[in-house]
Amino acid sequence: MAEKPWGGRFAAQTDRRVEQFTESISFDHRLFEHDVVGSIAHARMLARVGLLTEAECEQIVHVLSEIRQEIAEGRFPFSIEKEDIHMHIESALTARLGDLGRKLHTARSRNDQVATDVKLWTRDAIDRLDGLLADLQRAFVAFADRHRDLILPGYTHLQRAQPVLAPHYALAFVEKFARDRDRLADCRRRLNVLPLGAAALAGTTLPIDRESVARELGFDSVAANSLDVSSDRDFLAETLFCLTLVAEHLSGWAEEWILWSTQEFGFLLLPDSVCTGSSIMPQKKNPDVLELIRGRTARVVGALQTVLVLIKGLPLAYNRDLQEDKLPLFDAVDTVSSCLELAAVVVSGAELNRDRISSRLDEGFLDATTLMEYLILKGVPQRTGHEVVGRLVSLCESRRCRLADLPLDDLRAACPAIDEDVSGSLGVENAVKAFRSYGSTAPDQVSEQLTAWKAKLGQGPNG
Ligand code: ARG
Repeated sequence: MAEKPWGGRFAAQTDRRVEQFTESISFDHRLFEHDVVGSIAHARMLARVGLLTEAECEQIVHVLSEIRQEIAEGRFPFSIEKEDIHMHIESALTARLGDLGRKLHTARSRNDQVATDVKLWTRDAIDRLDGLLADLQRAFVAFADRHRDLILPGYTHLQRAQPVLAPHYALAFVEKFARDRDRLADCRRRLNVLPLGAAALAGTTLPIDRESVARELGFDSVAANSLDVSSDRDFLAETLFCLTLVAEHLSGWAEEWILWSTQEFGFLLLPDSVCTGSSIMPQKKNPDVLELIRGRTARVVGALQTVLVLIKGLPLAYNRDLQEDKLPLFDAVDTVSSCLELAAVVVSGAELNRDRISSRLDEGFLDATTLMEYLILKGVPQRTGHEVVGRLVSLCESRRCRLADLPLDDLRAACPAIDEDVSGSLGVENAVKAFRSYGSTAPDQVSEQLTAWKAKLGQGPNG
């Protein structure tokens, strides 16, 4: 009969079906590294306050490191009788050290232990995600650099609107991922408060030193309320919200590039290495990576929903429901990590189809708003200018020509404020050059932004 840590109070063995139903080792084994690190910090603190001798502490630290090594190398046996990673490690310690192993859980509960482990794991995950986001930003910066002088049609409502420089377009994504990094950093700061020492829910009567544990584990402070922190999972909801926005950003980008790689758009050339074919239609080349990045957003949004519903209505303090928090956390972190990695691969390999894009820039009156602003500078009220250009666009449509093709007489007939210098505002190239506001697609603005991002991010994987 496998011994349970709560065996003293129990007369009967746990039903096998209950063990199967309640175990978490099948997924929380991923916490082993952080569980060991947390236990070592805890043992060192117990020695500092005299609850363990120095020699006892050294033995515990030594064996914990051994166990960590065995788990890392896949040489450690797991079984559901020991429920979770915490009980596995503690029982291995006791198997090797006897009564000394039975001292490690002094002034600690699995409630504050698991909260600490999950925080440590999440903190590392945030740091890794930050690196992946920076890699993707660098890939977009390199993409911006290789398409420096290319003009794209900018869209609203998926209708041609105004011209934008390709680097302006690429840097829009760099900005989104910068906000994602900032949000994760902010979440990390709020997360970084030590639960350990809260014990089961009320703290402990033993003379522990939580400050020193916080320092050793890199926490910025110690949680001030044991009841709160032993069951708090706000940091998971926050992390998953941050990840959901990353996934949403990736999904919008993926959707656009799927569209851009169609015959109908023909804007984007994806390398064969990131596409797949069809088993029946020999000509097909499909953007499956982009489609899966878009599709996997569903899982990340789902993970956030799962945690929000999981913590809804839980009374204080720890409830076993909380064991379920790790599944959505792990899944969302894994999903977003692989999506970010693959997104960088796609961005690094993609090329815009310059000829196709440039040859159709004359369609859609991308210079209409520039012409209206030209009129404003000539003293025409904005609403009047809007109407005038609207009428000119209609005229062009009936004549099947561009605004730049209209003779000056026709332009002046529509609005006498128009002079010969209007030619400087017509045509897509001129329209782009006419921009000047901060943050606009004006060439000097864009090149300043590009230089600033390069300096901030350094060289990319393919930059
Ligand atoms: N396996 C549990 C979890 O992941 C550990 C904490 C169990 N605490 C308890 N009081 N049963 O949440």
